[in-house]
Amino acid sequence: MVRSVIGGVGSYVPPRVVTNEDLSRLMTTSDEWIRSRSGIEERRFADEGVYCSDLALEAARNALEDASMTPSDLDLIIFATLSPDHHFPGSGCFLQAKLGIESVGCMDVRNQCTGFLYALASADAFIRSGMYRRILVVGAEVQSSALDFSDRGRDVAVLFGDGAGAVVLCPCEDGERGIIASELHADGRYAKALYMTIFDISRKPLVTPEMIEEGDFWPRMEGKVVFKHAVTRLAELVHSTTRKGGVGLGDIRYVIPHQANQRINLMVAEKVGIPKEKFLSNIQKHGNTTAASIPLLLDQAYRAGKLERGDLLLLIAFGSGFTWASTLVRW
Ligand code: ACO
Repeated sequence: MVRSVIGGVGSYVPPRVVTNEDLSRLMTTSDEWIRSRSGIEERRFADEGVYCSDLALEAARNALEDASMTPSDLDLIIFATLSPDHHFPGSGCFLQAKLGIESVGCMDVRNQCTGFLYALASADAFIRSGMYRRILVVGAEVQSSALDFSDRGRDVAVLFGDGAGAVVLCPCEDGERGIIASELHADGRYAKALYMTIFDISRKPLVTPEMIEEGDFWPRMEGKVVFKHAVTRLAELVHSTTRKGGVGLGDIRYVIPHQANQRINLMVAEKVGIPKEKFLSNIQKHGNTTAASIPLLLDQAYRAGKLERGDLLLLIAFGSGFTWASTLVRW
């Protein structure tokens, strides 16, 4: 049986550290508020002129090096982001050019926090079907350009950070390692609980000075609604995905959850009865890096020597859409 294995993993974050104290000089907030509500201590912000595909390029290079591959070995690029370089074309095309390869297919996945897991499930299906053999799956974000750092946007702005993570997915026939099960879910009734008004294509003209004045191009979030649904859906995923994969909760070495809020992940751990030490986190240092958060955390755990061959990992995410998704993988 062919399974998709993670042949290489890499990540990259921009060098500029922004602390909670730094943010409290821009808006009415405090280190205590941010830390106690979310677990976040600091995050990285890209400098002006840096694109999402620039961060993705560094992560991709690290993943390719880890896989002992070069860009020309790739058959496909799948790029997950909510902060693409431009409205179109997709950031995968910009990344492909920066990698210096031509003709390889590129597709963007615009699923925000679950984007990486939707991309990974798609890559897994391509590989198991035999259509492609080596797929670069990237999650990358430059969110710092699209946050409202005034008091109006403080509930959202303090949560997010920039970064990138990538894996190279390849086929493997040893029957042990690789992706065992994936789940993809959505409930579009909540699309506007976490969304950005612009670009509302029904509006003519698309952008007016009033819309800029109103802050229509900043993300809006009903924090408590997102929080409640995230805890419920993520806990459901833990049970349904382990059941689908034919493994027990006790078999899981680590849960690698999307890093939206440490309180969400601790509540999920408690709800499903998995020790909280098994829920890995890096939100303290990176905030919520949306599509980048899972591959960034995976790469950091790998490079810290935490992961051993044969470990069972459960990747879970919840976010805008609402969407929620999971991947059960034997490392
Ligand atoms: N600093 C200080 N005060 C703030 C800030 C801030 N940065 N932001 C909001 N407040 C104030 C509000 O104005 C409000 O004040 P009021 O009570 O006087 O009206 C108060 O703090 C709200 O406080 P709480 O109700 O205690 O806030 P809560 O515990 O709900 O925490 C938070 C807010 C952190 C946003 C939480 O709801 C949350 O994490 N929600 C989920 C976020 C999430 O998962 N997002 C997923 C992102 S999906 C994706 O990545 C695309």
